[in-house]
Amino acid sequence: MYAISLGDDGAELRPLEPWQAQEFLAHVDRGREFIGQHNGLPDVITDLASSRAFLQTYAEKAAADTGRLCGIWWDGTLVGAVCLRTMDVGQGNAEAGCWLEPAGVGKGLVTRAVRALIDWAVKERGIHRVEWWVSAENEPSKAVARRLGMTKDGVLRESFLYRGKRHDEEIWSVLAPQWRAAGRAS
Ligand SMILES: CC(C)(COP(=O)(O)OP(=O)(O)OC[C@H]1O[C@@H](n2cnc3c(N)ncnc32)[C@H](O)[C@@H]1OP(=O)(O)O)[C@@H](O)C(=O)NCCC(=O)NCCS
Repeated sequence: MYAISLGDDGAELRPLEPWQAQEFLAHVDRGREFIGQHNGLPDVITDLASSRAFLQTYAEKAAADTGRLCGIWWDGTLVGAVCLRTMDVGQGNAEAGCWLEPAGVGKGLVTRAVRALIDWAVKERGIHRVEWWVSAENEPSKAVARRLGMTKDGVLRESFLYRGKRHDEEIWSVLAPQWRAAGRAS
């Protein structure tokens, strides 16, 4: 219905809603193995019903103003998504997340998309702190946090039980004054 351009290469950020459950399932199927390395999404999206239920959860978060989900389209194909998994406008805190299928990797799509989402959260919604929770072993995701100018706040040792193994989880964040200053600098 509407799209935000992420650059002159045709990449777009668009709403991702329950009616797109089939397209979303096909995207997760293409990225199932890659996304599942550090992220439990593929275990949640297993069929059309669970795909629709996941998108419905985000539709409800959007309606309640407690989260957001946007898809990333590359050359007309849904190749990834960025989200505010949580958003507490009263407290001014949010947590961003992301994933890509392999065809979307290495193009800066997530960095550009999360930038647009944080810009909206900070500048339009008054969010003060945006967090990025990441498995300590997920180097590509930590690189995104660094590219976004986030700071590593700390490590939750062995807090993340994933596929039978406990992992350290890092929390990175950026604060609104830093975000605005970095925007002015660039
Ligand atoms: C985390 C994840 C999204 C990172 O993907 P990514 O493609 O490396 O990240 P970006 O979209 O920001 O792209 C950055 C890459 O594009 C390159 N790039 C090209 N144009 C760029 C641009 N305009 N801006 C930024 N980077 C650009 C960068 O150099 C970098 O490549 P490099 O790692 O070879 O140096 C991906 O690994 C993934 O989906 N993993 C599985 C799910 C997951 O773990 N999600 C995160 C849970 S916390």
